[in-house]
Amino acid sequence: MRILPVTAIALSLLAPTIAQSQTVADIVAGKKLALEVCAQCHFVSETQTLIPRSDAPPFDEIAADPAVTELGLRVFLQTPHRNMPDLQLSRQETDDVIGFILNMRALADNE
Ligand code: HEC
Repeated sequence: MRILPVTAIALSLLAPTIAQSQTVADIVAGKKLALEVCAQCHFVSETQTLIPRSDAPPFDEIAADPAVTELGLRVFLQTPHRNMPDLQLSRQETDDVIGFILNMRALADNE
């Protein structure tokens, strides 16, 4: 039975690698990014110092819209828009900011 401990060690070495290779939305990073980038035009949070543009929908409204889905946000953020500059977000940044918006919905649902 010498094989078992070896397998256990191999698995324990492998586990963190698997966890790191998945992109998991980091909501805190998403909020930071939203306050730095998106808040130039959108209302993101009470704490923002930038003044949002009236033609950009506030994030709490986007989050509250039942038609807004994770996939829809992903497609929207990866395509250039007339009124929104091509933001060139990385995959991780896209995941984070989507996680942040959808978390606003989850928080609102729990109120
Ligand atoms: C330069 C201004 C500007 C910046 C910066 C900006 N947006 Fe926008 N965004 C707009 C405007 C204006 C609209 C509404 C018109 C449109 O759809 O193009 C919009 C629309 C959207 C919508 C669609 C809402 C809907 O109901 O269809 C989403 C989602 C969105 N923005 C997310 C973001 C995120 C996330 C960021 C930051 C990573 C961001 N925006 C940065 C101006 C901006």
